[in-house]
Amino acid sequence: MKLAVVGGGSTYTPELIDGFARLRDVLPLEELVLIDPAMDRLKMVGGLARRIFAKQGHPGRISWTDDLDAGIDGADAVLLQLRIGGQAARNQDETWPLECGCVGQETTGAGGLAKALRTVPVVLDIAERVRRRNPDAWIVDFTNPVGIVTRALLTHGHKAVGLCNVAIGFQRKFAKLLGVSPGQVELEHVGLNHLTWERSVRVGGEDVLPTLLAEHGDAIADDLRMPRPLLEHLGVVPSYYLRYYYQHDAVVRELRTKPSRAAEVAAIEQQLLAMYGDPALDEKPELLSRRGGAFYSEAAVALTSSLLGTTGDVQIVNALNNGTLPFLPDDAVIEVPATVDATGATPLPVRPLEPLYAGLVANVTAYEHLALEAALKGGRDRVFSALLSHPLIGQIDYADRLTDELIAHNREHLTWA
Ligand code: G6P
Ligand code: MN
Repeated sequence: MKLAVVGGGSTYTPELIDGFARLRDVLPLEELVLIDPAMDRLKMVGGLARRIFAKQGHPGRISWTDDLDAGIDGADAVLLQLRIGGQAARNQDETWPLECGCVGQETTGAGGLAKALRTVPVVLDIAERVRRRNPDAWIVDFTNPVGIVTRALLTHGHKAVGLCNVAIGFQRKFAKLLGVSPGQVELEHVGLNHLTWERSVRVGGEDVLPTLLAEHGDAIADDLRMPRPLLEHLGVVPSYYLRYYYQHDAVVRELRTKPSRAAEVAAIEQQLLAMYGDPALDEKPELLSRRGGAFYSEAAVALTSSLLGTTGDVQIVNALNNGTLPFLPDDAVIEVPATVDATGATPLPVRPLEPLYAGLVANVTAYEHLALEAALKGGRDRVFSALLSHPLIGQIDYADRLTDELIAHNREHLTWA
């Protein structure tokens, strides 16, 4: 089995490699190719990747290249984890919206739209090249904003599934709090990527969410940085991305007082790269846990293995709605438990969604539709419409100003601007 990772020079890659090494029985890799335009990073990350495989006795070959077509040739699956413009572009996404009083975040609000506009055309070009060379290959998309990017891939007929680590993160956290193994914890996870709620937490078929909230409500609330009474009121656990909605103004005030996450990440990355260059390092360093990608290797291994195998199990992924949430269009992409096998991901039925969540999901789905239109066709008017439709923006004076800022800060990445 051959796997290609686009964006393989990322400092996150050792997390993935560590998962491939530990879980080699689930995903028997023969060949892994890391693809990235940044050859200097590839050498450091690739060197460490080889040492991790060697230490753990993994027989798979690892190579790296800056030539996309050569790298994807013969791949059974292609993982996308790229970031157009790197942390510098992310820093902008997290900064200029704040000046307008709106949240500055890489996947939510105006910053997320900027990222979508930079990313969708590049991802579609890569997917087209994958399809031309290996029409049977699966694309696993980690590239943010995952909801919009996956919608772009699927509406263009690509064999793709979108993946995020929020669900697996909750599964692991709840398992720890409950003192059971993660495999025993089944989440009723619903919504859109980075806009989800855990409606029940089943262990042995029984919903233990009420007990979990009663016994560990403080720990869960602290972790999400949300007030415990909110969780008690809702009776469900929102993902931490819901903070940007439920506490928007407070988050804006807080973000204004500190360096951006991109700046923090850039500093961590400098240290990580210096460590990766050390030939004595042969495992993923502890410092990597200060990034947000915990367990993404486990999720990637499980998904890729089911897409390439025949087992067919249930995983929480981003897939086409196709009537699952009846108030959304069929071509919306939702994040829910789905059966995954060699034919792809098929969402399981979902209980009717309460108005409190359905309203936001419908609104953000409409935004994602307009964001994708803007990413595919370009133009100031489309950017303005997408921003106007976003529940965190929604007013013409904000949308107008943010449109100008978005275009001014991203001109080099937008062919139409
Ligand atoms: C979580 C999200 C990812 C996001 C990451 C950011 O893992 O699910 O979509 O990319 O956090 O982490 P970072 O360390 O880059 O802030
Ligand atoms: Mn994510």
